[in-house]
Amino acid sequence: MNKSPELDLERKEKWNSKIGVIFAVAGSAVGLGNFLRFPGQAVNNGGGAFMIPYIISFLLVGIPIAWCEWTMGRLGGRYGQNSGPGILYALWRRWPSKAVGAMMLLIPVVIYMYYVLLEAWCLDYCIEFTKGGFADLFAGVTAGVADHDAEVQAVVGATDEHWQTTFGMADHGILLQKGGRTIWLVLTCFLVNFVIIYQGVTRGIELFCKWAMPLLILCAIIILVRVLTLPNITSGLGFMWNPKWELLKDPQVWLAASGQIFFSLSVGFGLILCYSSYLHSNDDVVLTSLSASSTNEFCEVILAGLIVVPTAFLFLGAENATKGTFGLGFVTIPAIMHFMPLGNFFGAMWFGLLFLAAVTSSLSMLQPAIAFLEDGFGLRRRTSVTILGIVTAGGATLTMFFSRGLLALDHTDFWCNLMMIVAATCQVLIFGWIIGAARGVEEMNRGADLRVPKFMAFVIRFVTPTFLLIILVMWSYSKLPTYLDGMNPQTQGLTARHATYQEAVTAHYAEAELTEEAMTARIEELLGAKGDEIDAGTLPPWLQESHDAAEEAGRQASSDANIARLVFLGIVLFYILLIVLSDLACRHRIKWMIQQAERAGPGWEA
Ligand code: ALA
Repeated sequence: MNKSPELDLERKEKWNSKIGVIFAVAGSAVGLGNFLRFPGQAVNNGGGAFMIPYIISFLLVGIPIAWCEWTMGRLGGRYGQNSGPGILYALWRRWPSKAVGAMMLLIPVVIYMYYVLLEAWCLDYCIEFTKGGFADLFAGVTAGVADHDAEVQAVVGATDEHWQTTFGMADHGILLQKGGRTIWLVLTCFLVNFVIIYQGVTRGIELFCKWAMPLLILCAIIILVRVLTLPNITSGLGFMWNPKWELLKDPQVWLAASGQIFFSLSVGFGLILCYSSYLHSNDDVVLTSLSASSTNEFCEVILAGLIVVPTAFLFLGAENATKGTFGLGFVTIPAIMHFMPLGNFFGAMWFGLLFLAAVTSSLSMLQPAIAFLEDGFGLRRRTSVTILGIVTAGGATLTMFFSRGLLALDHTDFWCNLMMIVAATCQVLIFGWIIGAARGVEEMNRGADLRVPKFMAFVIRFVTPTFLLIILVMWSYSKLPTYLDGMNPQTQGLTARHATYQEAVTAHYAEAELTEEAMTARIEELLGAKGDEIDAGTLPPWLQESHDAAEEAGRQASSDANIARLVFLGIVLFYILLIVLSDLACRHRIKWMIQQAERAGPGWEA
């Protein structure tokens, strides 16, 4: 094998500055998860009380895994490895490291396939506000409204409709047929991401994050100052942060908190592993990791936590302030801007900062795969970027195509979240039990500006994996059955048919003002239990009128279940392909690179 420039360890890319790497990793962490996902999770899971499981997860999962990833990544870099499979194989020359390494490629690439769409939607909203387009939309629906409540309803209705149309939620294929503007925006986002990534780690990612991060934080601070000076904002702050302690007994709240920490800090994705491999071997990882995580928490808890829900409550009331991630992000926030002085200006600024935050995150989702193609197969940057561009464009197109009810996006997100916990558990087990926690913590402290206490070895070896395993079991127990059910065409078809008939029954007896029990009994008497096959011939004539609608709903639901199966199958096949590729690369080029590195310098144990 010829010694190509990439195999020359001296010529491998390294971060230019400490502030550069902090902004790059913080940029990877700070994203839509901070600004859109966190506020919804917090307000719906106990407000101030949510911060207890959140902080515990941060301390027991977020910080330790981040430190493990930083340390393993930096070590892998000493062997000239920048991708999950290469780094883990350099540290543990057994087959499981290839399988875990393949997850570190799969998760970010698959998340990118839907994340880039969210990025495009932020860009879309930013452009709309810049052009004042929402003002026209709102003017159209608010003319002649009777009072404030009616105005709120009209404005939220308009943003809801805009959202549904922009996302092609009415039916599959709509976006590709009629969503010309959306397609252009997605292409623009692809272009932005791939042009930056093509420039490389320092001239691309580092440079971009070095100006994007301060800019987006500045924009968020300006918006925060505006929000905190609004009259009566304290009522909104109280609504968001008053603790509902009783919810702490609910395991779902704990799951939501730990899930938020994973997604928000980008731990378990393999992103930190990749970024930290571009450090010099004596660069600090402990304080740098804490700085990046703290920046993430500042953006999430202080900036997003004080802006989104309090303002939504103030202007639009409790119902609109408690929507989920997308509802809050793409329906509520645009509606707020109608009521807020200088709304178009702040709307453009808000979605502009979201766009920047999304790009700094999506870049980090691409780099691990680029590094793998370059290191594992000796491909040139141009070829690697092209291959990854084609693969991700294919995935994003499918996600855009199966857009009814955000079906593909939702299922992909679910499987990625599950894999993230599995991957994080594997990483921490490798660190604590294969490398050895005490040895690992010693390595963590090499060149450290702040030393990790010795008890961290115990936490990494026992506490974090136990916590992760509990989360994994709880997550599987509470969420897996729903998603598995969602992949069953027969059950889904029957449920949808039943729901359509049920609606007709409820409407039919609306005037009879039945009690809830009486209504339930009537529904069961007519339709049988949920999940039973309904024989339309036995239904009363007024109910038979719903036959066509029920059949159509059943067909759609069955077809959606089949699509959900395809999403799952696609992810599994992609994973198998990545394992095969990781195996191939580790057997040949990566192995050879590691041997070269070992010959050239001392092993990391030295
Ligand atoms: N950590 C990134 C976010 O929060 C993925 O959006």
